[in-house]
Amino acid sequence: MTNTLSKSSKNKENKADNNIDQNKRDFMVLAASGVAAVGAAAAAWPFIDYMNPADDVLALSSIEVDLSTIEKGQSITVMWRGKPVFVRRRTEKEIETAKKDDAIKLRDPQKDSERVKDGNDEWLILVGICTHLGCVPLGYKGDFDGWFCPCHGSHYDTSGRIRRGPAPKNMAVPDYKFLDKTTIKIG
Ligand code: FES
Repeated sequence: MTNTLSKSSKNKENKADNNIDQNKRDFMVLAASGVAAVGAAAAAWPFIDYMNPADDVLALSSIEVDLSTIEKGQSITVMWRGKPVFVRRRTEKEIETAKKDDAIKLRDPQKDSERVKDGNDEWLILVGICTHLGCVPLGYKGDFDGWFCPCHGSHYDTSGRIRRGPAPKNMAVPDYKFLDKTTIKIG
């Protein structure tokens, strides 16, 4: 019994390690109580916890996210109303690429500027759910260096817009606002 338990917990740890190793820039954090301030410091949360958010997390109607620890080229994931939300601090190159692609024919046409807050275009906030059938896409992957959904192969760009694969829509931008330069409130 003890052996079975320790084997199963070791498997969970291995799975969590693998997921974290898969992409060191893409961190997972979990808002745990009330109005939660979260940051990259909580990056060690095991992936398994994200799969099973607690009831109190599911119930949160809004969360505050501390952006101060997120560096350029990094992304964290927070849980909001039971869904993952990607908070990505984009590099100049990522912003430039996204803006350049405003001009091309997009499946779900939207300018990059419509997906970020005025004067804060380095911050991209997205509901991290693929618009095809609801998988969670992987950051910094795919043909457009945005996100890639491994379930059926949807590629999103650095603005979270759908660019290739079966997903019909861009990843959604949740309702959020800046409380100050380094804090946003989602919801
Ligand atoms: S759920 Fe993402 S491509 Fe199908």
